Amino acid sequence: MDNFQAQSEVKNRVRESTDIVRIVGESVELKKAGANYIGLCPFHAEKTPSFSVNPGRQFFHCFGCGESGDVFSFMMKHHRLNFPEALKELARRAGIELPERTLSGAEQERLRQRERLYVVNEAAALLFQNVLAESPLAEPATNYLRDRGIPDDAKKTYRLGYAPAPENAGWNFLTGLLVKQGLAIADIERAGLAVKKEHGGYYDRFRDRVLFPIFDMSGRVVAFGGRILGDGKPKYMNSPESLVFDKSRLLFGLYQHREAIRKQRRALVVEGNFDLLSLAVHGVDNVVAPLGTSLTRQHVRSLRGYCEEVLLLFDGDAAGLKAAMRSVPFFLAEQVEARVALLPEGHDPDTLIRLKGVNGIEDLVEHALGLPEFVFNTLVKQYGLTLSGKNRIVDELQPLLKAGDAAQRSLMVAHFSEKLGVSPDKMLMSAVKVSTREQVVADGQGRSPFERLSRQQRQLADFLLLYPEYLDDLLAAGLETVVSESILADLIRFLQERKAAGDCTPEAVFTALADGAERAYVAELFMRTAGDAAMDEARQREMCDELVYWLGQQNRQQDEAGLLQQIREAQMAGQQGELMKLLKRKQEYGRKRTEFYDNMLKKE
Ligand code: UTP
Ligand code: MN
Repeated sequence: MDNFQAQSEVKNRVRESTDIVRIVGESVELKKAGANYIGLCPFHAEKTPSFSVNPGRQFFHCFGCGESGDVFSFMMKHHRLNFPEALKELARRAGIELPERTLSGAEQERLRQRERLYVVNEAAALLFQNVLAESPLAEPATNYLRDRGIPDDAKKTYRLGYAPAPENAGWNFLTGLLVKQGLAIADIERAGLAVKKEHGGYYDRFRDRVLFPIFDMSGRVVAFGGRILGDGKPKYMNSPESLVFDKSRLLFGLYQHREAIRKQRRALVVEGNFDLLSLAVHGVDNVVAPLGTSLTRQHVRSLRGYCEEVLLLFDGDAAGLKAAMRSVPFFLAEQVEARVALLPEGHDPDTLIRLKGVNGIEDLVEHALGLPEFVFNTLVKQYGLTLSGKNRIVDELQPLLKAGDAAQRSLMVAHFSEKLGVSPDKMLMSAVKVSTREQVVADGQGRSPFERLSRQQRQLADFLLLYPEYLDDLLAAGLETVVSESILADLIRFLQERKAAGDCTPEAVFTALADGAERAYVAELFMRTAGDAAMDEARQREMCDELVYWLGQQNRQQDEAGLLQQIREAQMAGQQGELMKLLKRKQEYGRKRTEFYDNMLKKE
């Protein structure tokens, strides 16, 4: 039996032993409706259920957004796994052993590496937990947690732990014990638990800290957050990212609180680990916290599968305000409803609930502002309602208007135009106004060849100018064949030269460009984007993936068009042998296209 057959056989076996209703039901509340089950679609925002699961044929379909597939595609899309990972996870649950050869060598190695990281993190979690529960070394931590109002059962639920102080336990307490258990030091280091010393040897990353294990959505420990006891610095230390830990995707508490969030159809987002713990201890358990990063689009997306509304409970200071504002486009783009409540000065959710009890939080939630009001209030505070203030506000709104869909846009426009006393047309015209300004500059020096590019190509050019470090990824995706004979091709050559010269920052590129239309365009681009928040790395990656996808499509279209032309010619000329060969190649394209889409899905 060959590899392909083996894989499809095991895939079928896993599918047959898996109940799609149960798997989907873990993240979507399903109700029986005739032969099907229906619920709110986890792939788009909706208020009335149009997502249905058919147990007979073991597939799902959403009548709202059109997503559909089997249990494998559900796992891939919803939990962002690639196919081998989805297969493995479902096989594990069904108790089916996977023949190792269904995965490529590199995939197997990656999987084994991940397994080892899970093992190391789990072993560390157990040790830290035991120390806190039983060891006299943990007395300071026990006192600390008692003072912060954390009872024993919460310690258990969140598997809190303690890494003892080096004065009492040495500098490699954990590392030593893990090695003694037979774990490899290289894996302990990769998990971020041991740090290599400059002159040989290792020491523990976490010392004298209370530890919060971070779980992925299958309940495996993938990282730790550690808080110092008292006032030292840094206050929090988190595990570095690894093969199993991507902090821009994971939310602390989502694993433990997913049921509560689903039941209440609402998630509260707080900033701190102790905020989360403290709320949960008081019975407010539909809460999550990002891990020392601002909320990302992936975070918002991962919440979307569990609730209808997200409530941001952020600090009332400038930083909290900024963090809340920064997340607004993500909520619009993911079409997740959100409201924002800023904490009273000097409070965070932890101190507030300790002072005022659950009512304090409920009050906040009740008075939380919807995104449009929140954005409006914030911008008015910042710029005022003078004429120039209003103009500034309209400018600031443009990225938000772009982030949402048509309905959200008209909602925002309606809201703002009324409050600002600016006509809806004018609100939208600001975008036009900007491009007119561009036009004037460009026209003055001759229209820039960049502006003659198609929208998609211009997006490519802008992305490369702002983030030239992605050049190689895009080249590998066939950039050069798609953009031959244009200003974009010149730009790419130019970037390659700068790269070879080892100086390819956007600034260097700008400086090195000759004076003229192109440079004016780049200047305009930099000006245009200067006010925007820089894309975080995850968003850049996403953008790059979108462009790679587009390039892939273009490349295939070009190839296929060429092939069709050849087929027509062979038909005309009656070259049977040649024709057969060409038709076979055409078939091959069809297969490749399916593979390509499969791969894109896996990447998701
Ligand atoms: P806070 O300082 O607001 O956290 O930081 P907190 O939970 O309220 O802290 P205490 O214990 O009550 O004083 C919010 C979050 O930002 C991350 C942590 O995840 C923290 O929970 N953070 C904070 C870090 O990663 N590193 C730091 O040095 C500080
Ligand atoms: Mn706090």
